[in-house]
Amino acid sequence: MSLNIVLDHEIILDLLSLTVNDTQHCFNRIRKPNVRFWIPACLAAMLENQINANHHQSLAHLFAQEVKVLTALGTHWPQLPERQINRIQALISLDAMCLAGTTVIWTNQEQFDIANEAEEIIEWGDHEFLYGVLAEYEYASDIHMNDLANQQLTLRNQLEQRIFHTMRHGRYVMGEEIGELEQRLAEFVGVKHCITVACGTDALLLALLAVDVSALDEVITPAFNFAAAAEMIAFIGAKPVFVDIDADTYNLDVNLLEAAITPQTRAIIPVNLYGQCADFDTINAIAREHNLAVIEDAGQSFGAQYKNQFSGGLGTIGCTSFFPSKTLGGFGDGGACFTNDDLLADKLRRLRTHGQRERYHHELIGVNSRLDSLQAGILLAKLQVLPQELAARMQVGQRYSELLKDVVKTPVIADYSSSVYSQYTIEVEQRDLVRDQLAKRGIPTAVHYPLPLHKQPAFSFLAQDNSILSTAEAAAQHVLSLPIDSYLTAEKQQEIISAVKAAVG
Ligand SMILES: Cc1ncc(COP(=O)(O)O)c(C=O)c1O
Repeated sequence: MSLNIVLDHEIILDLLSLTVNDTQHCFNRIRKPNVRFWIPACLAAMLENQINANHHQSLAHLFAQEVKVLTALGTHWPQLPERQINRIQALISLDAMCLAGTTVIWTNQEQFDIANEAEEIIEWGDHEFLYGVLAEYEYASDIHMNDLANQQLTLRNQLEQRIFHTMRHGRYVMGEEIGELEQRLAEFVGVKHCITVACGTDALLLALLAVDVSALDEVITPAFNFAAAAEMIAFIGAKPVFVDIDADTYNLDVNLLEAAITPQTRAIIPVNLYGQCADFDTINAIAREHNLAVIEDAGQSFGAQYKNQFSGGLGTIGCTSFFPSKTLGGFGDGGACFTNDDLLADKLRRLRTHGQRERYHHELIGVNSRLDSLQAGILLAKLQVLPQELAARMQVGQRYSELLKDVVKTPVIADYSSSVYSQYTIEVEQRDLVRDQLAKRGIPTAVHYPLPLHKQPAFSFLAQDNSILSTAEAAAQHVLSLPIDSYLTAEKQQEIISAVKAAVG
């Protein structure tokens, strides 16, 4: 989690003073990664005149030191208590409430009028108090599976600008953000078309409909996987045919593919599990030979590269998810399809809006599956930092592997693919025991996934021969995902690594 320090106006003036003072010393000492400083926008505007009159350094000086503007003010006027003694202080506290994570107001005032609503969330205090909070915060150092607050706070201003922009133009469905995002995503992936949809699951459904999979057709997909692909195959009345996985990459074992193809097979959905791509050259060659469509499930691999091609552009249609915890995630559900095929792109666009090309003229049976303009704006803000975030995330994954490779089975990344480590998943004996021990040390873990798909009650109707899916079954018993995100610090990662070593030791 992040520690936010909101500055009151006297602290800001001290920091801008040309005369060296205690506040400046304190500021330099408490600047650490994950500590963020904020100036409420109301103060910035108010202080401009004072700064000029007193020959202080300009506010730009603070912004250059990574102090950010907090722009929440407008939302809070109606909440201001009528008889609040100090309205500016109350406002600062209400603004500060908009920040995710532990938030402290830094002030030299002996009394600070925190508005009632903020009382339980916001603390305030002087230099000494801040050192205390910082020490406590470092000691507590919460570890999350995927800490989304850090990213949100880093991009706060860009995110707010995007959100306010959508509120201003008011086209909440299919606003201008959609076209802009689709163009940027297509460029990023390196394909002709991107069609955004409401979630990754819908992306798979629309892709299946676009390539004409229908009832009684068969679609091959790996047995060890998130349920969405198999679910959507079954949802349209087709039959999921589960194939076992490769024991190292956890992706579809291409050696078993030919044997699973029957005259009813219509398509293959390889799923790029945990962030690395399946063996697409082999899959595509087999698919071509049998005239099958390949739907790439890139729900966990957005940003990964297979040879020189980005994930999403590896099959007939690529599908991804913008669920918040994904490598590119929104503030809610979202997804996209990618293709180089003009006709398929056109069909996907119609399928997502009730089969319409023209309003109220339904050429196909479609669905309502559009990405919201607000989500598109948020994704556009995040897309700008995606390359840096991916690099940081990959570094975290590689550091885990380097430091854990002698104690547990670490991910094996095939030479044809990179991994974005959407999950950093190890294998351990006595998985549940290890999990418990890590939990006791405050380290969350997850199991992706505890049951292979053929063992899920929802797919029991398939009655597929389990004996051929033994690698999937073994993986389900041993896999364990550790916390990972692009902002995980080396210190926290070391804490996790030490705990894993102790637990398996
Ligand atoms: C591999 C994979 N495919 C598809 C999905 C479904 O995406 P969504 O949750 O956006 O529907 C997920 C979601 O976690 C996933 O991991």
